[in-house]
Amino acid sequence: MTAPTTSTLTIGGDLTVGRIGFGAMQLTGKQVWGEYPDHDGGIALLRAVVDAGVTFIDTADVYGPHSNELLIRKALHPYPDNLVIATKGGFVRGGYDYSTLDAVGNPNYLRQSANMSARRLGVDSIDLYYLHSGQATDVPFEEQVATLAALKDEGLIRHIGLSNVTLEQFELAQTITPIAAATALYNAGIRRGVDLLRATEKTGAVFSPWHPMSIADGGDPERITAALEPIAQNHGATVQQIALAWHLHRAPNTLPIPGTTSLEHLRTNLAAAQITLTSEEISTITALVPED
Ligand SMILES: NC(=O)c1ccc[n+]([C@@H]2O[C@H](COP(=O)([O-])OP(=O)(O)OC[C@H]3O[C@@H](n4cnc5c(N)ncnc54)[C@H](OP(=O)(O)O)[C@@H]3O)[C@@H](O)[C@H]2O)c1
Repeated sequence: MTAPTTSTLTIGGDLTVGRIGFGAMQLTGKQVWGEYPDHDGGIALLRAVVDAGVTFIDTADVYGPHSNELLIRKALHPYPDNLVIATKGGFVRGGYDYSTLDAVGNPNYLRQSANMSARRLGVDSIDLYYLHSGQATDVPFEEQVATLAALKDEGLIRHIGLSNVTLEQFELAQTITPIAAATALYNAGIRRGVDLLRATEKTGAVFSPWHPMSIADGGDPERITAALEPIAQNHGATVQQIALAWHLHRAPNTLPIPGTTSLEHLRTNLAAAQITLTSEEISTITALVPED
């Protein structure tokens, strides 16, 4: 049996969080646009997240836009001392249609975004602020990172993270300012973020896989699910729990952020931290998708 090597992680050397966080994005309207329709239910769920011991919540200004950060503030402010909230800036969205999502790196825009996220969340300093995308081409990537570094120097941001960047961008950013975390699409069925997982393992940054359980989203979901099912049966667990437990075993710096609107799923997702996979099970899941 191979237990996950750590039960907590440290972000940027001074923020300690539990290994399974919570992704708040689902608490918005359809297609991540507008308000979450069950306002009171969303508040109750966020409070249940914290009551269950979760110490890391992932959000972004573009979730809603804005309504997700505001819901978090309404549910949880004043925040418990041990709660770390990560938010992101650098995407604009022109309407309900996902195709209107656009990456923006203009320094003044990023500055405004970080200031407004802090205001919406009700904090003087944002624990972890991600550049949401490496795709903006209106200004050089280095300038975008330098903007975040300046915001950190000014105290508005405590730590800097990078979302969905390439390995080259991650390495370039490290030459400008310390990068405390990276987040990318990575799960049992899709390994798009593997370069960042490897790079962060070396630097000591946290790697936060998004869509950590969405094995049905792409690749070959039937095959992946069929491979996870016998492992789930061995542990009296669900396929989703095994998909989550695998992240914790995959590398010591992973911080999956499962999202749910269901109290029952919240409970079972967090219980995945108690599952100890065998080294054979870990290898079986890792080998499902080539990573080289
Ligand atoms: N950086 C980025 O670009 C980026 C992009 C996307 C997402 N994210 C972040 O990553 C977080 C996670 O992504 P996500 O919320 O889309 O995907 P996810 O956590 O992989 O999966 C969420 C979906 O799985 C269902 N689910 C959750 N727990 C379950 C369980 N135990 N059993 C069965 N179904 C379950 C949810 O439905 P129920 O509500 O019914 O449970 C929901 O449909 C987001 O909340 C967001 O914070 C970041």
